[in-house]
Amino acid sequence: MEKVRIDVTARNWHPSPLAGPIALVTTVDAAGHVNVAPKSLLNFITVRPLRIILGCSRSHHTAQNLLAQGECVLNFPGDDLIDKVWAAAVFREPADGEVAARGFTELAAERVAPPRILECRYHVECRFEMVHWFGDECVFYLGVAAASVNADAATAEDPYTLLRPVFFLEPAVYGTINASTHLD
Ligand SMILES: Cc1cc2nc3c(=O)[nH]c(=O)nc-3n(C[C@H](O)[C@H](O)[C@H](O)COP(=O)(O)O)c2cc1C
Repeated sequence: MEKVRIDVTARNWHPSPLAGPIALVTTVDAAGHVNVAPKSLLNFITVRPLRIILGCSRSHHTAQNLLAQGECVLNFPGDDLIDKVWAAAVFREPADGEVAARGFTELAAERVAPPRILECRYHVECRFEMVHWFGDECVFYLGVAAASVNADAATAEDPYTLLRPVFFLEPAVYGTINASTHLD
């Protein structure tokens, strides 16, 4: 097969070789305002203990709140929420009621101050461990404090048919996992 070169200086690649799991990240600021933002520069980086990396622009409320308060929840939506998820990227000044204004419902987290988002199906509660700066961008190292999932998915033969997690591919382009395959 002939190969076509990809422009590695482009901000977004087409097609993309790396699908980023999309989460709605909740954080809280010093005044107690909850912030919600979609993020996809995200993955497990160590397993013992479980640690997650999150890439974020330095100027974002998410980064500012994580640096100041040290906690967040990664709420993983299914594809039924994709329009609201994308809309949650629109800038909003910190204020009371952001979760409701984005069309979601707050659910208290088990171990951290930021809330879970009820309509999402999987929630990972995290605590700040470390940050690396790359100009205007930063990478957070987050320790996993707790996790929870919809009860039906916890017991389903194939939980992914219920979770239907979504992945960022390109601006306005996402992919969904709607089934899993067992090798044995
Ligand atoms: C699907 C999706 C994924 C995104 N992933 C990231 C990301 O991983 N890192 C980032 O800095 N911004 C990401 N963005 C952009 C932010 O969500 C957007 O700039 C938002 O306004 C930041 O909000 P905040 O200031 O409340 O954190 C993403 C946007 C969308 C729609």
